[in-house]
Amino acid sequence: MSNYLITGISDGIGLAYLKTILRRSPDAVFYGISRHVSPGLSELIAEFSGRLHYFPCDLSVPFPSLEEELKSFLPIDLVLDGFFDNAGIYRPFLISQLNEERIMETMNVNLISPIMLTKIVLKNFLRHKTKGSIVHVSSIAAHIGFNATSVYSAAKGGLEAFSRNVAQEWGSRQIRSNVVTLGLLDIGMSRVVPPSLQQELKERSLLKRTTDIDTIIDTVEFLLSDRSASITGENIHINAGVYMA
Ligand SMILES: NC(=O)c1ccc[n+]([C@@H]2O[C@H](COP(=O)([O-])OP(=O)(O)OC[C@H]3O[C@@H](n4cnc5c(N)ncnc54)[C@H](OP(=O)(O)O)[C@@H]3O)[C@@H](O)[C@H]2O)c1
Repeated sequence: MSNYLITGISDGIGLAYLKTILRRSPDAVFYGISRHVSPGLSELIAEFSGRLHYFPCDLSVPFPSLEEELKSFLPIDLVLDGFFDNAGIYRPFLISQLNEERIMETMNVNLISPIMLTKIVLKNFLRHKTKGSIVHVSSIAAHIGFNATSVYSAAKGGLEAFSRNVAQEWGSRQIRSNVVTLGLLDIGMSRVVPPSLQQELKERSLLKRTTDIDTIIDTVEFLLSDRSASITGENIHINAGVYMA
């Protein structure tokens, strides 16, 4: 059995990932976090009880100790093999329109909580001498300037730098850290992206379409597995050819 921590499982990419991998990989067990149980997640929990464990947690609020909060969910003897850091939030407003609460929410969900969770996961890897793998989710908005993404872009850019440095710090223990940097999808938070920007991104795409979810699922599964044992500190762009690094 391989155990994975995954965030943002109630909707979008996280839910789609679980739907596919729980069916495809009978040895995979997931410890998933989100604030809500959506109907889709509820069905998965019923179908895969024992292989999908759920913990309700709001990653936008600074916990005195997230580690303390998660102690019962991720007990000391649980051996984690990987972390899919997927949860994210995007508020489609110019910086002048974002109040401090929304700015802090965006930074906490997209950057601060991922850092805290990575620390917990790393300690688990080290305790159990696991060759663990971490995959963070970033956005094309950290690489191209758009209107109304400044704080989101800053958080994702920070996450990419964080991942590279974690890869540097822990590579000698065979612990890997990578990022998938995504373009616009048809699902998930693209629902709050203004239609004009959606159109612009489709036109700029070399493939003349949005980013497909199956490519993301397969890439994340690969990065979390031993098949990618020599890939670390990388940033893999999946965006249907909107941006070439
Ligand atoms: N969809 C796209 O076009 C796109 C493009 C580029 C990058 N991305 C990135 O892909 C990742 C997944 O996004 P998505 O499109 O799947 O978005 P989504 O459909 O909005 O799902 C986001 C997930 O994150 C969770 N989440 C949000 N706020 C949270 C909080 N405060 N505490 C705990 N969990 C929270 C949500 O669960 P609850 O609401 O139940 O808490 C939900 O399960 C994000 O990191 C996003 O930045 C997406």
